[in-house]
Amino acid sequence: MALHKPKVLLTRKIPSAAFNRLQSACDVDLHDGSTAIDPDELKRRVADKEGLICLLTDRIDGSVVDAAPQLKVVANVAVGYDNIDVPEVTSRGVIVTNTPDVLTDATAELTWALLLALARRIGEGERLIRRGRWTGWALDFMLGTELRGKQLGIIGRGRIGRAVAAKAPAFGMTAVFAKHDMSLDELLVSSDVISLHTPGGPDTRHLINRRTLARMKRTAFLVNTARGSVVDEDALVWALNEHLIAGAALDVYEKEPSVHPGLLGLETVVLVPHLGSATRETRTAMADLAVRNVIAVLSGESPLTPV
Ligand code: DGY
Repeated sequence: MALHKPKVLLTRKIPSAAFNRLQSACDVDLHDGSTAIDPDELKRRVADKEGLICLLTDRIDGSVVDAAPQLKVVANVAVGYDNIDVPEVTSRGVIVTNTPDVLTDATAELTWALLLALARRIGEGERLIRRGRWTGWALDFMLGTELRGKQLGIIGRGRIGRAVAAKAPAFGMTAVFAKHDMSLDELLVSSDVISLHTPGGPDTRHLINRRTLARMKRTAFLVNTARGSVVDEDALVWALNEHLIAGAALDVYEKEPSVHPGLLGLETVVLVPHLGSATRETRTAMADLAVRNVIAVLSGESPLTPV
């Protein structure tokens, strides 16, 4: 690869260490904007590229590959790849890679942050103070739920689900996995917290819906750091308003960056803007892994983390 630097399209700025590594091996065309690259512009700019490094905000389907006859690799800077039509892309001979492992701990930590915020009403308390509405300590004021002795039901037994489960004993919780320790229905009816760790995509779309929400305990919390599509947000708003569950904490949404208006006014909901992997360490590692995947493929080697 020393003589000929292959052309690569990078759809967003990445940390400088990863960018420098990419530039030393490839001729980089960077979309430098602060918002996602326009789909038509992406197709235009990828036309002469051998590599594409993209984000989960870029939709990559067969038509993108058709626009880029020399394309060999699409490297997603994310572990999830529901933004890529993998069968369509790979059937055209293009390798797809993602970024597993490097974001497992960051996402598990955020899951626990959300769970604790929900159980101890952190967001609600903070909003109250900022509104100047705190009138003082009281024995029965803003009581939350203790985690010790409770059951954490985990749907999705991948790396992140297992990392979340590993932290459960520290809080005195028992973690159980759907389909491994018990059926999904048993897990829904018996868990105090349900945490979602499945991939997105058609197989898990609206796995949490009116029917499954109605099976949960009225005191239960739902945490979603997986993909917005896994939860039917209309159904969730309904379940919260009907008090069928006690609360929900969400990092991901069906139509990001839009958030269902019915969620915004509910004090029983904790909302954060898709921050699962958002630590400096992890985002740097994700970008670096995507870059190393592209360089490997364009050097004729096997990708490190193919999908
Ligand atoms: C992923 O990697 O899939 C996360 O959702 C974003 O980091």
